Amino acid sequence: MNQIALRLQREAERIASRHSLPAFYVQFKAPLALARKIFFAHPLVTLLREMIEPVLNEDLGHGIYHSTRVSIDSAALVYVELESNPMEPSRLERLMILGLFSGLLHDISRGQESHAEAGAVEAVQYLEELSLGQEEIDCICQAIRNHEAFVKPKVCSRPSFQLLSDCLYDADKFRWGPDTFTHTLWRMMNHQEITPQELIDRFPWGMTGMLRIVDTFRTATGRQFGPEIIETGVEIGREIYRYLVQNFGEL
Ligand SMILES: [Fe+2]
Ligand SMILES: [Fe+2]
Repeated sequence: MNQIALRLQREAERIASRHSLPAFYVQFKAPLALARKIFFAHPLVTLLREMIEPVLNEDLGHGIYHSTRVSIDSAALVYVELESNPMEPSRLERLMILGLFSGLLHDISRGQESHAEAGAVEAVQYLEELSLGQEEIDCICQAIRNHEAFVKPKVCSRPSFQLLSDCLYDADKFRWGPDTFTHTLWRMMNHQEITPQELIDRFPWGMTGMLRIVDTFRTATGRQFGPEIIETGVEIGREIYRYLVQNFGEL
């Protein structure tokens, strides 16, 4: 990354560290830890991670860092959403693994037009390589197809598919919170060669877009905890905007 983008990222990290962790990451520490454990220990998840890391588009801030965070939150959401719905531990773990796969694969075609649809098509070959059955492949692909913001999602063909689809969506949109400023924005700034002045001009519009996502969360947990994640991001954004204006604004 260029020096200015790096400097802004460091400043945003400093600002973010002064904000408290959104409640989702405090209240659900245990499911998040379980999701993380499966993510780093399960051989098929490791295999998929190794396969897709070189393919993911890091330039636009949607590389392995983003996908890892979406994966872990998605699997944790699956767990939390199913807490009141007792099921075999092995089935629950399998659904969490599908959540991890969908998180890793959802932005595999990020550089293409209609990347959710293209990603759902592209994901099949990876899932076949992991020897997943048709049913699990359909489950993940329906979720990937539905992950785009501000597009009406298709109703999934089964309740468990719907759950996974909604969890993937919410986990992805949680990234519109602090991650926007600790990660994504600076990658985009660097890749698109945006100057600080251009960034200042576009900032208010970007912040409005962030706030629009608040009403779109799909799981009960996402609707309850998602808005605070976004609002924390917006607060960090306001501070980094002030920093930008002070340091790079025109006199
Ligand atoms: Fe995406
Ligand atoms: Fe994403």
